[in-house]
Amino acid sequence: MNTGRGIPEEVIEAVLRQHDIVDTVSKHVHLTKQGKYMKGLCPFHSEKTPSFTVTPDRQIFHCYGCGKGGNAIKFRMELEGLTFPEAVRLMADEAHIPYEAGTGGSAGDSPRNLELEQQLQAHEWTAKLYHFLLKNTEYGKSAMDYLKSRGFSEKAIDTFQIGYAPARWDTLVQFLEKRSFNLDVMEKGGLLSSKQDGSGYVDRFRDRVMFPLHNRSGKVIAFAGRVLGEGQPKYLNSSESKLFSKSRTLYNLHMAKGEIRKSRQFVLFEGYGDVISAWEAGVHNGVATMGTALTESHAAMMRGLADEVIVCYDGDQAGQAAALKSIPILEDAGFQVRIAMLSEGLDPDDFIRKYGAERFHRKILDGAVSSVKFKLIYLRKNHILLEEDGKVAYIKDAMEVIAPLSSPTEREIYLKELSAELQVSFESLKQECNEKRQSMQKNNYAGDNKGKRWNNGRHKTGQASMPELLPAYHVAERRLLAFMLQDDEVARYVGDSLGDQFNLEDHAAIAAYLYAYYAQGKPPDASRFIASLQDERLEQSVIGIAMMELPAEWSTQELDDCIREVKKVPQMKQIRRKKEEMVSAEKAGDFLRAAQIASEIIALERQ
Ligand code: GTP
Ligand code: MN
Repeated sequence: MNTGRGIPEEVIEAVLRQHDIVDTVSKHVHLTKQGKYMKGLCPFHSEKTPSFTVTPDRQIFHCYGCGKGGNAIKFRMELEGLTFPEAVRLMADEAHIPYEAGTGGSAGDSPRNLELEQQLQAHEWTAKLYHFLLKNTEYGKSAMDYLKSRGFSEKAIDTFQIGYAPARWDTLVQFLEKRSFNLDVMEKGGLLSSKQDGSGYVDRFRDRVMFPLHNRSGKVIAFAGRVLGEGQPKYLNSSESKLFSKSRTLYNLHMAKGEIRKSRQFVLFEGYGDVISAWEAGVHNGVATMGTALTESHAAMMRGLADEVIVCYDGDQAGQAAALKSIPILEDAGFQVRIAMLSEGLDPDDFIRKYGAERFHRKILDGAVSSVKFKLIYLRKNHILLEEDGKVAYIKDAMEVIAPLSSPTEREIYLKELSAELQVSFESLKQECNEKRQSMQKNNYAGDNKGKRWNNGRHKTGQASMPELLPAYHVAERRLLAFMLQDDEVARYVGDSLGDQFNLEDHAAIAAYLYAYYAQGKPPDASRFIASLQDERLEQSVIGIAMMELPAEWSTQELDDCIREVKKVPQMKQIRRKKEEMVSAEKAGDFLRAAQIASEIIALERQ
């Protein structure tokens, strides 16, 4: 059977059999045994007391702090920022499971997947073509001169597979046509543009230095083409396509991810040139956005790989403003953020070429300041500190940043610095800060969370504190599903007496999937069952249910109690409706009808 995600189910199951959840998690998290559970510090959010659990007999993990949970595949997806197919493929390779087994080659692929396959293939060929043209032909000479004049080394050109698209309309059209690529598909993939009169296609990139853009697994999915020297637009990117989405792509992530994972840190740049120069200067954990602002998707992609980010943007006003904007996005995702400070007018690329690698490491990266410090420096620029008014206004701004900090020590450090800088007494600043904190508390501002929204909501997302707040039938449904997950006999029993008559839609859906799962003769296995679902919300719901504490043995008595609780709901609803009907009959003076309804209600209540 195929899962609809293009991966044969046998492969997914083999992957789950070969990758024990405890082994998988232990490579990244120190786990200690606690009864049926293993416990450790959650790798997906920062915490000091462990709320991350692994349940070996269910082969799943779950964090009570941030609510993340799933099987071994899900763990790798989250941790390494992989998609489902990427994670399965990687884990299959690691366990020497033949990935193509049972698929009958690509014959079973849907047409859409075939198109994507072709686009990937074409991008790979195109990158090779442009690189070849740059390095080995007369066409590429001017581009090569340009790159050399900017200080790009031969090695960097090879490592980043930089190329050149000649100043002709049909270099790529002819190249792709010769290799029998469908040009419609190539246009959709962003390599070609259609002619204005609709009579065919032309190359999208002409007379540009070409930077291939890769996805996480290192496949070329798009290009950025830079003009030689001056000209507009400076960079031309591939259009957005099924293959390429700017807001989910980071330049150089495929090469940097190893070092990022090792150091648990990455350096975020603005430009391709910055990443390349820094790489040559030994910074192998650098990535860049595609000239667009950093998005939450970018941050989420990186979260599994690292804990700390150094934002290293241009030293000009635009760069600093962009750095400021990136801070909440990164902090909300759970990162520690530091900002590298470059002097006005220099970008990291310029700095490295001017002052060298050693100074870049020491002054810029090691000297990167905390996000609080950066905000203070940033705010200071708006005020004339030589004037009293300016000082007062700056102090007011600064309190907005300092007062919300949860650590008293941290607050004190920044207040002391401020005091020395402005020659204002520490005592008065402290008082100012305390007043600010008080007014924040009155406004019920979450002053204890360093402004980290992700931390404020954490208890709402977790399943742990939920059950006691839920209505009885809701708990009963969850309990039934939990027993059903553990034992197919229970599923049969509940199926016979309740079927899909769960009151909550998600519960009904889970039950339906579970009946189908057991009907295929599969054994109870929460982790395998989750892998067969294709709905993130249902997956999370199943995880929560699978984590419920249950007695070791079930009894029909207990199941019947739960079933009764569940069945009661529609009846209660009916009774409520009848009562309303009765009241309105009375109001209308139809006492005969009211009496009739009353006896119906009594009959219902007796049931
Ligand atoms: P060089 O001037 O070649 O060193 O490039 P740079 O990377 O320093 O460029 P800059 O600092 O001007 O811009 C930073 C990033 O923004 C670039 O790497 C691109 O990703 C993006 N960018 C800049 N100009 C353009 C443009 O005209 N179009 C698009 N799509 N992106 C651009
Ligand atoms: Mn730049």
